[in-house]
Amino acid sequence: MLSRLIYASSVAKPLDPAGINLLLSQARLRNGLRGVTGMLVFDSKYFLQAIEGSQRELSSLYSLLVNDPRHCDLMLLKFGRIDSRLFPSWNMAFAPADAAHRAVFGRRMAGSRFDPYSLDGTAAESLLIDFMTVGADLSEALARD
Ligand SMILES: Cc1cc2nc3c(=O)[nH]c(=O)nc-3n(C[C@H](O)[C@H](O)[C@H](O)COP(=O)(O)O)c2cc1C
Repeated sequence: MLSRLIYASSVAKPLDPAGINLLLSQARLRNGLRGVTGMLVFDSKYFLQAIEGSQRELSSLYSLLVNDPRHCDLMLLKFGRIDSRLFPSWNMAFAPADAAHRAVFGRRMAGSRFDPYSLDGTAAESLLIDFMTVGADLSEALARD
């Protein structure tokens, strides 16, 4: 059963670009082997991630995620069955929630601060779609690393 899971989390200790690239390359490799797609947004403090795949794969990935010491305070925002993927071509797309992307998240978040914990599941999903639209170039650049 194809499903999508969206959660927010907080970085446990600072992650530099090399740390993010390592995380992404591990995630993309593993996701590619397991039919998982999705998108990760990170602002140096908070993560917002969508993962899509079979219910079984998402369930085992979520338990790995909960136990990953690189982040904490996971908050499940949305989980459910889907008919089609939002990120079919991405084993894990990435976009930074940085100043250059403030226009993307600012209108969905009070005070223009990237705070994924403030979103309900529907708003989180819409925001990830917005990021996908504007962040596609960057995701591609990172995917080629
Ligand atoms: C914010 C964040 C996002 C992650 N996303 C994924 C992911 O999409 N797919 C994945 O396999 N692992 C992801 N990971 C890594 C997993 O938590 C876990 O470390 C990894 O799957 C373990 O793989 P291994 O059992 O092969 O060592 C992520 C970790 C963090 C901190």
